[in-house]
Parts: sequence; structure tokens; C-alpha cells
Amino acid sequence: MNEENNMGSDMEQDNRLKERMANVKHKILVMSGKGGVGKTTVAINLALTLATKGYDVGVMDADIHGPNVPKMLGIDDLRPDIAEDGISPVLVPPRLKVMSLAFLLESKDTPVVWRGPLKMGAIKQFLSDVFWGDLDYLIVDLPPGTGDEPLSVAQLIPDIDGAIIVTTPQDVALLDSRKSVSFARAIGMPVIGIVENMSGFKCPNCGEVIDLFKIGGGEHSATDMDVPFLGRIPIETKIVESGDSGIPFVLEHESEAADAFEAIVDKVKEIVEVE
Ligand SMILES: Nc1ncnc2c1ncn2[C@@H]1O[C@H](COP(=O)(O)OP(=O)(O)OP(=O)(O)O)[C@@H](O)[C@H]1O
Ligand SMILES: [Mg+2]
Repeated sequence: MNEENNMGSDMEQDNRLKERMANVKHKILVMSGKGGVGKTTVAINLALTLATKGYDVGVMDADIHGPNVPKMLGIDDLRPDIAEDGISPVLVPPRLKVMSLAFLLESKDTPVVWRGPLKMGAIKQFLSDVFWGDLDYLIVDLPPGTGDEPLSVAQLIPDIDGAIIVTTPQDVALLDSRKSVSFARAIGMPVIGIVENMSGFKCPNCGEVIDLFKIGGGEHSATDMDVPFLGRIPIETKIVESGDSGIPFVLEHESEAADAFEAIVDKVKEIVEVE
């Protein structure tokens, strides 16, 4: 992952990137203003739902400092094939291709202390030197906020369909999600919509719904900012378990969150496929 690879000059790399991205029909970024709101959860479950529907899907983990995609997909012990002419992503059945910096780190506990240009280099390499092949969707999981990684990804990927912004329902989170919308607008990237995650908790014993972080805020901020509201996902202990075990929650068929998620994916498809 340094500049002295065998993969040619900057201009050649730019051309490769353009060619590879031309083979990807839809490119979607998952971002948020705040950390820990469920971006990675949304990104991998979105990718897996689309793959289950028969689409060819890639997931690019652009969270350089906290690359969690492999862990949440239960593939953190796998490694991509690295050859002179490129990197083969890790394959997850039914048809998911995954690339993450986590695959390239020697230890899961190693912190990455890179500055902007090096991070930009790694992201560029993920886009230009990974054999993504023909994809229907490339889902990019981003770190929180509007720093180097979202900017690099947004600048490097041509024809992005847009960003999905994940938020939790409380006011402070909403303030941050508005920043994400403004960021997207400032760089001319469309916003596909807002997902309100951790929206209400149904007591498994009595069935009462408790609004731990309030409810409905994501929808308010979507209306305020004039972007689509994609739906809300409740808090479920199964989601925490699935994140830890590496078995995405959409594979749990009897879950309210899985149903909610299915509806969100349908909306996303509707929005990007008519563009
Ligand atoms: N709806 C939910 N119900 C219960 N737990 C959830 C829900 N959504 C996410 N989680 C859990 O919350 C934690 C944070 O989620 P996740 O890692 O997806 O957030 P993130 O926004 O990607 O975080 P980061 O900013 O660190 O990248 C995980 O343990 C995940 O399993
Ligand atoms: Mg994450």
C-alpha cells in the first residue's frame, strides 16, 4: 500500500480507476455526522440484501482507522489475493466482493496512524487496483464525519449515485446529519436519503416500545433538509449480536428490523435505478 508499487504511474492509475468504475452501475456512499450510529451495519446489510436479490455487489470499507466491515461480515480471517497487476477482493456468498484495509493489517489491534495523503492513496488503490469486475452496486462504508475519507471517495469516484446518511433520532445526532447533507451539497453529490437507526426499542418481555433516543427526528431532518426519508430501524439486541458474530441481521428472517430494512433497500433501489 505505498507509492512504490508495480502498478504504474499516477496517470495510468487514474485511467484504471476510471475504467474500473465505468463497470460499476451504481455507487453509493454510507455516511453519518456522528460515530457509532450504524453506518457499517447499514452498509453491509444493504450490500447483502442486494446480493441476495441477485445483484453483483461490492463493499469497499473506506474507514481506514476503524475498518469494521470484515468483522461484521465474519470474514476477518480471510485475505485478498494480491498479485502484481491487482488485488482480488474477498468473496462472500452469494455474490459479494469485499475490500478493506483490515485485510492488510498484520494485527487486528494495529492502529493506523496515516495522514490525509496516505489515506487518499489507499482509497485510490482500492478503487483502481482491486478487481471489482462488473458490479451492479458498489457500497462504500465511510468513517463518521466529513473528513479526508469522504472527500477522497467523493472526489475519486465518478458518477456517484449519492449518499445514504445514517442518523439516530436525538437532536444532537440530527444536527450532525444536517452537516452531512450540507457536505454532500457542497461537493455536488446527491443525497439518496436519511435512515433513522436505533429508532425505538421493543421490550422483548412485555412488547412495550421504549423510545430510548426519541423517535422521528431523522424524518424531521429529512423534511427540513428536503431529502428523502428512507425509513427507521428499531434497536434490536439481535443486531448487536449479529454485528459481533459476523452474521448480518437481514439473514434473521423473523426480525422487525430485517423487515424495516427490506423496505429501506426497496426505496434505495427505486431512487437510484430511475436516475
Ligand atoms: N438498530 C440497532 N440495534 C441495536 N444495535 C445496533 C443497531 N444498529 C447498530 N447497532 C450496533 O451498534 C454498534 C455500532 O454500529 P456500527 O458499527 O454499524 O456503527 P458505525 O456508524 O459504523 O460506527 P463507526 O462510526 O465507529 O464506524 C454495533 O455494535 C452495532 O451492532
Ligand atoms: Mg463503521
